[in-house]
Formats: sequence, C-alpha cells, structure tokens
Amino acid sequence: MSQYWTDIVNQLEPYVPGEQPRDQQYVKLNTNENPYPPSPRVIEAIDSYDKDRLKLYPDPESTTLREALASRFEVEIDNVFIGNGSDEVLAHSFQAFFKQDRPLLFPDISYSFYPVYCGLYQIDYQTIPLKDNFTIDIEDYRIDNGGIIFPNPNAPTSLLLPLEQIESLCQNNSSVVIVDEAYVDFGGESAIPLTKQHTNLLVTHSFSKARSLAGLRLGYAIGHRDLIEALNRIKNSFNSYPIDSIAQTAALASLADEDYFRQSSDRIIATREAMTRQLADLGFEVLPSGANFVFAQHDTLPAEQIYLQLKAKGVLVRYFNKPRIDNYLRITVGTDAEIATLISKLKELL
Ligand SMILES: Cc1ncc(COP(=O)(O)O)c(C=O)c1O
Repeated sequence: MSQYWTDIVNQLEPYVPGEQPRDQQYVKLNTNENPYPPSPRVIEAIDSYDKDRLKLYPDPESTTLREALASRFEVEIDNVFIGNGSDEVLAHSFQAFFKQDRPLLFPDISYSFYPVYCGLYQIDYQTIPLKDNFTIDIEDYRIDNGGIIFPNPNAPTSLLLPLEQIESLCQNNSSVVIVDEAYVDFGGESAIPLTKQHTNLLVTHSFSKARSLAGLRLGYAIGHRDLIEALNRIKNSFNSYPIDSIAQTAALASLADEDYFRQSSDRIIATREAMTRQLADLGFEVLPSGANFVFAQHDTLPAEQIYLQLKAKGVLVRYFNKPRIDNYLRITVGTDAEIATLISKLKELL
C-alpha cells in the first residue's frame, strides 16, 4: 500500500504461482511442468542460434512460427495469434472480448488466473458451480452472458468435456467462448477444428506443458480472423515484440519434432495411469485425468496434512485452501522415478 498507488492497484488480488522454495532440493510435483527436457532439436536450435541476431528486434509478427502452427492445425496464418505464454494470450483475450455489460461466466473451480484478469481489467464475472462430481454442465451456461471461458481439461480437476458439448455451447451462445487447452495434449481432443464453423470460438494452447518449454514463455490462440485481429490490436498497443527471436527459433524446432512431442506425452500418460492405480491402492479417490496432473483425495487423511508431511519429506504437491476442493491434492505427473518417490513417501506417512 502506498500513497502513489492508483485505486486499481490497491484493489488487485494478484495470482499466486505454485511455490518454488529454494531451501532444499524437492521432487517438484506442484506446478504441472513437464519432467522431460524439450526435444533435442530445440536444444540444437538454441545452441546454433546466431547470437549476432540479438542486436536486432525479433519479427514482431512471429511470421514463420505462425505459418508453422497454421500448417500443423490446417488453418490460415491469420487464424493464429502468438503470445508470451498462454497467460499473456488469455490476458489480451479478457481485455479484447470480455469487458461487456453482461458478466463473463466460468466454473467456480477453474484456473485461478481468470478472476485475477477480471480484477485487472474490471470485468464483471459470475462463477458457475461445477456439478457435485466436478463436471461442467453446459446447460448451466445457457444464461445471458458477456463471454464464457473454461480450461479443457479443466484445471485443477483434470476432467475433460466432450467436443460435442463445446460445439453445442458455441452454437447457442452469442458471445465469445474461450476453451483454454493448456493440457489438451495429454489425451484430450482439441476444439481447434470447430473454430472453422464457429466464429465466436477461440482456443488457446501452451508450449509450457507437452512441449516442455515453460521457461521459454510461449502460447497461442486459434480462431476466426476477426478475433485474431482484435488480439493483434491489443498486442500492438501493449508490446509489439512479445516473442524474442531465440524463443521463435526454439519453438519452430519443437514444432518440427512431432515424434518427440508425441513420445514424451505418451510417456506422461502411461505414468499417469500407473500412478492413478498406485494412489487408488493407497486409499485415494483419483478423478479420471486428461491432463499431466491428477486431482485426488484420501479416504481418511486430510489433504492439507498430506501436503505438509510430503513437503517435510521433500515432495511438493499443490494444495488449494479453497471451498469444495480443500480436501484435494493436485499432483503433477513426474518421471517414473519421481512418482516412485512420491508413492514411497506416501506409504511412510499413511
Ligand atoms: C489452465 C491453464 N491455462 C493456462 C496456463 C498458462 O500457461 P503458460 O502461460 O505457461 O502458457 C496454465 C498454467 O499452468 C494453466 O494451468
């Protein structure tokens, strides 16, 4: 608090990222990062990057990268927008589409950055409760609204909403619908093909999860050219060069190695399924996950206690002290060795 702050800064409730303590080495299963390195082609592209180019501004339009994404998703280049992490793409989207005289709708249990953007851009919103089993019921969204957003799979529940339901939602809604597919590559089906018929649908993706490039900060949105133009208008009124040239080079190399991308996602899916069975054997109820994390509660021990005891034993998982989910843990799928450590520490404390 300071006399120099504006009212809006006073009122902000900023997002709190998962903890990154430095006091000891932890097995980090709390921020949904990928445990595997990026493709060797990415490393090679960064190593051989011509450092002399650093004196120049990068391509403000990320043209080659947008072309590569357009070709991968069978859309046109003007259907693609790139940002500094999908968080930035989302932030611009909130500003571009959701400041309306009707409230934005999103699930009560969802990505906790959404209400933060609403605070920043002064967007009116209404949360829609998930069903008791934590699923999204699209019938609940058939009310007057200034936009709809949800992650698919949802975070932190990890549950997938079938594409037919997303299509029905877009068909019957006159405002913009954003499907945040940060985790779609771990077994979900992308709604990107639906953007061809539904001009109000925007789909966002991240390079942070399945492509192991969280440190590079890259995300993108695909949708009708008018939606993309709105995002470009915001971007070019904020920061014309959000994607540095090393990031553009590395992302292209990642897109050129689809085999590696598929193999590392498949590995995570296999570990997730094994981990789900092991957790169930220890008395956890684990929701069926379509993501690189699971959401689980134990039949006797409170989640907070498990979280604290795991932390004391050097394993970090995510605990949310929030209504409805305060007895759940969100656990990122790590390597097989990391999950073996998790399971053995859990056995000690249960
Ligand atoms: C649902 C969801 N959307 C978007 C993001 C942002 O991803 P990034 O900004 O790293 O692309 C995250 C990050 O954890 C997320 O959980």
